[in-house]
Amino acid sequence: MEEGTVIDCFAGSGVTGTAARAVGLGFYGIEAHPMIAELASLKLQVDVEPDTLRQVAAEIAGTAKAREASVTANDLSKETELVSRSFDPVVLTQLVALRHTIVDREPDEMSIYMKWALLGTLRDVATVKVGWPYQLPGKPRQARFADVGKRFLERVEWMAEDVAELAEDRPSAIVRLGDSREASSWPKPGTAQASIASPPYLNNFDYADATRLEAYFWGEVRSWKELTTTIRGDMITASTQQSSVLEKEAALKTLEGLPEIHETVTELAAALKAERRQRPAGAKAYDQVVPAYFLAMSQILENLYLSFDHGAVAVWQIGDSAPYGVFIDTPGIIGRIAEAHGFRMISDTVIRERGQRWRRANSPVGVTLAERVICFRKD
Ligand SMILES: C[S@@+](CC[C@H](N)C(=O)[O-])C[C@H]1O[C@@H](n2cnc3c(N)ncnc32)[C@H](O)[C@@H]1O
Repeated sequence: MEEGTVIDCFAGSGVTGTAARAVGLGFYGIEAHPMIAELASLKLQVDVEPDTLRQVAAEIAGTAKAREASVTANDLSKETELVSRSFDPVVLTQLVALRHTIVDREPDEMSIYMKWALLGTLRDVATVKVGWPYQLPGKPRQARFADVGKRFLERVEWMAEDVAELAEDRPSAIVRLGDSREASSWPKPGTAQASIASPPYLNNFDYADATRLEAYFWGEVRSWKELTTTIRGDMITASTQQSSVLEKEAALKTLEGLPEIHETVTELAAALKAERRQRPAGAKAYDQVVPAYFLAMSQILENLYLSFDHGAVAVWQIGDSAPYGVFIDTPGIIGRIAEAHGFRMISDTVIRERGQRWRRANSPVGVTLAERVICFRKD
């Protein structure tokens, strides 16, 4: 493909977007997580001078250093518990001084770069385990970088180098904050020539939760409740924390429009429910996730089909899973849903085996899980 637009309807931090841009293709991303969409947009825009970025960052670091003495214990006590527990008080003081300095500046096009350089610094200087996706404030670790200001400036330097490489004469690359289940989030019909995407895996990974440290520190949200409404609101249900009985019932009803998929999903939900019933109360309700997840995929594939030009090809990377030992062939089912919406399957390729992590309790045979790339086309 030498020209045209690539769509990523699960744009994340914009890996597809930056790759498309680098080879001179247009890009249209859709991302439901507000902070991640902001980060992806930032990575694709070309409206600042690298040297101005460096200069503003140096000024901010200098002002923040001078402000550290004025950050009081009372200021620190206003941080959420997750934030307070994740940093040594001296480090937290430096982080808060930097944040105050960035927020107090007259907002301009540099502000968002400074915000993300600081948010990128958080996990580098944390004194507890804060890997992806789980933040474990009860588990201490040695901070990977001790000097907050220095690390902040290093991160700005990387941004400046990236910005210097972004040529201005490239086709447009945008990331839209939105829900890819909604038709209104998509570009005009027939305008895209490819899709390269990786949907959320049906494996209990909660993207809103994964970014809690950054969201709390920046004050985007201050509580779990706010997080679930503000950040998680438009995300597809891919984890048990997001699911509900009502959503399950409604999803199964809607999937009746695709009888074969409905049958598969109903069987899976029943098998998962039977397994759950054998476990203690409160066991994860995967049976509620599955119908909502595949309904979302159906809505998104319908939108993708409309947005595609004839001959356009989709390449999606996705893993299967086996909660409670019930094998869910997620890539295969997504492929069948794609076919039900008019696409033609081209290939389904294993790119990585993930081992036999889920063993049925009553069977010596484990299920080999894999990550696959499915490829389908609008003829
Ligand atoms: C596997 S990740 C994609 C990672 C991406 N390739 C990148 O470069 O970072 C899936 C993404 O889908 C997003 N997502 C979940 N539900 C969505 C929805 N309804 N509409 C758009 N994006 C959604 C998640 O927030 C997450 O960022």
